[in-house]
Amino acid sequence: MAFGNPPPLHGLLSFILLFFSSSFLFHDHVAAAVTVTTTSIHLDVVRKPTPDVPIFREAPAFRNGDECNKESIHISMTLDSNYLRGTMAAVLSILQHSSCPENFEFHFLWARFEPQVFLSIRSTFPYLKFKIYRFESNRVRGKISKSIRQALDQPLNYARIYLSDILPGYVKRVIYLDSDIVVVDDIAKLWEVNLQGKVLAAPEYCHANFTEYFTELFWKDPELSRTFEGRHPCYFNTGVMVMDVEKWRGGGYTQKVEHWMAVQKQKRIYHLGSLPPFLLVLAGDLKSVDHRWNQHGLGGDNLEGKCRSLHPGPISLLHWSGKGKPWLRLDSRRPCSVDHLWAPYDLYRPNTHSLEE
Ligand SMILES: *[C@@H]1O[C@H](CO)[C@@H](O)[C@H](O)[C@H]1NC(C)=O
Repeated sequence: MAFGNPPPLHGLLSFILLFFSSSFLFHDHVAAAVTVTTTSIHLDVVRKPTPDVPIFREAPAFRNGDECNKESIHISMTLDSNYLRGTMAAVLSILQHSSCPENFEFHFLWARFEPQVFLSIRSTFPYLKFKIYRFESNRVRGKISKSIRQALDQPLNYARIYLSDILPGYVKRVIYLDSDIVVVDDIAKLWEVNLQGKVLAAPEYCHANFTEYFTELFWKDPELSRTFEGRHPCYFNTGVMVMDVEKWRGGGYTQKVEHWMAVQKQKRIYHLGSLPPFLLVLAGDLKSVDHRWNQHGLGGDNLEGKCRSLHPGPISLLHWSGKGKPWLRLDSRRPCSVDHLWAPYDLYRPNTHSLEE
């Protein structure tokens, strides 16, 4: 394993301590998992801030209500130090609105081994059950075609395609979430969706003009566009998905998505990043869930500074997809009104220097 930026010695030592107190699993050729239990080590003592990893305050402990069973709810998200503030807020929002918060098990995917990010999660959520897996970005790097937005071309954006290879076998179902979301409802309601034999559940948007997600070249090629034959394809957003992991693995969906990425390498059939190949494989063939579970687009359009307002109807999950992120807009003191809905979940502690040595 290689360190991206060498951490300061102090941090490194504390990580090594942790390394030996945790068990490591090696899963396939794709992932190395750090298994962490809540009893592993008291990291608040050894935690030291670094310039690139912000400091967060500790979230309270959330306890199960009396009616809770022991069934785990598996959530997967990517971990990127640039989005860490979003991830922290997302996790807090999920725990806070859950009636059985101790049932969660988080599965984080990272592309780079960043001990400080690990320590940061551990100290912010000392009671959280979570694992971190390495996503081997080389697996996808050569398959990515340039999109219209550079941020979409990060290998980690493609990690969701490989969940069935990365997650351990006992995870039969997972909710995949982007890092720029907050949940304002009990996510167990989404977790319990009846997939009715489908591999994926997500809100569908049949009013969006589906044609526009693909190029003219795609639609004019009868061989290619035939892929939608017999389906009524609608746009869906890959930032919130419930996945039947076994069905995904058994059906070879990773390879199906990769196939379209290979086609895109040959001829340009779409403009965006990881979304269109998902649409090609699964649009019109998923279990539709209520729109309340992905109020997306709150990041605004590609135009700088353009705010979006909420769509009418009930909301269970807010999603700042698009270019603008609420933490950046709040920091710049030019927030959009929807950003004030994100702010209560922000655990970031600005201007916190060093903790006691
Ligand atoms: C959808 O987009 C395509 C391509 O831009 C356009 O030709 C078509 O008229 C649009 N359809 C609707 C219903 O707006």
